[in-house]
Amino acid sequence: MTALDSAVREPGTALTSAPDARQVLARCRGLAGPALREAVGRSHPWVAEIAGYSFGWCEVGGAPATGSDGKGLRQALAVLGAEAAGAPARAGVPAAVAVELVHAFSLLHDDVMDGDPVRRGRATVWKAYGTGAAVLAGDALFALAVETLARRPHPAGAEAVRMLSGALGDLVRGQADDLLFADRPWTGPERVRPRAYRAMAEGKTGALLGCAAALGAVLGGAPTATAAALDRAGRHLGIAFQVVDDVLGLWGDPSVTGKPVHGDLREGKKTFPVLAALDSPDPAARRLASLLERGGDPVEAAGLVEAAGGRAAALAEAGRQLAAAETALTTAPLASRPVRDLRALADFAVRRDL
Ligand code: IPE
Ligand code: MG
Ligand code: MG
Repeated sequence: MTALDSAVREPGTALTSAPDARQVLARCRGLAGPALREAVGRSHPWVAEIAGYSFGWCEVGGAPATGSDGKGLRQALAVLGAEAAGAPARAGVPAAVAVELVHAFSLLHDDVMDGDPVRRGRATVWKAYGTGAAVLAGDALFALAVETLARRPHPAGAEAVRMLSGALGDLVRGQADDLLFADRPWTGPERVRPRAYRAMAEGKTGALLGCAAALGAVLGGAPTATAAALDRAGRHLGIAFQVVDDVLGLWGDPSVTGKPVHGDLREGKKTFPVLAALDSPDPAARRLASLLERGGDPVEAAGLVEAAGGRAAALAEAGRQLAAAETALTTAPLASRPVRDLRALADFAVRRDL
């Protein structure tokens, strides 16, 4: 049992008969993959290659990729959202395509904003093709996402575009705070509190996960309350996912995460484990604060974060958010098999590589 296990459920329950999340992801990828490639293929060929590189389909220059592509969590949420609403899986495919396009767009621009050189074990798009190309390909993916939803028949198409726009507004708010927080002090009255972190993480990560599941449901003909429950579940899942991302950024194995370790610390990012450690009464918290204020060694900082309980607090937070996501799924009449798949996926997404 990990700290996350005990935070989420009683020992020995529910894990045994859970669906295999990897199979769920593969099934949804199989359904949405061709439509996603078709959408990207509508772009200018250069932009389509850059997008293909970012999805892990090809190398620079267009040769087929040797590595692996992303997990496809968002497309799976969209397909399962449609099924949870009682519709066939294919009803969720346009939603799946749109959210994967938006996710890829947000990563292309995010890596520029964060100045990160490596993602999924290879050069980020701005490093491989240049910043202009990364910005342009991101814009193209965004436009394709909107077009994919706008093509759906009235009134679901219009509602879907409205929902995606709302999620994008939240994503921008979250990204804005993430960037602004990096310039805030680690201690004192101006410091970032965990509550502000949660709002930021819900925006930058949760809004799109919630939107994915809700969009699938809406395209599957679900009533507003059903879509809202799925949106809430996705938002909680997004916070859990982001907190775990923060943990992996401090203690993850770069050969597994595909990202260099301690990047967030070097960039001054206000991640949950560090904020929780700084709030702790443990004497390590004081040493951590003075180390961070003088821009000290990230390896030593990660050790102090752990000593002050920041890692354990982050895993407990992820467990609480995952539990809140599961609770949200009980607040609407949803089909049971897709809900089991959603639970397995949420568990897998939060527990990855821990
Ligand atoms: C990415 O957040 C969120 C968006 C792209 C909107 P982070 O910057 O924290 O995530 P990684 O570590 O680059 O994946
Ligand atoms: Mg980033
Ligand atoms: Mg970022």
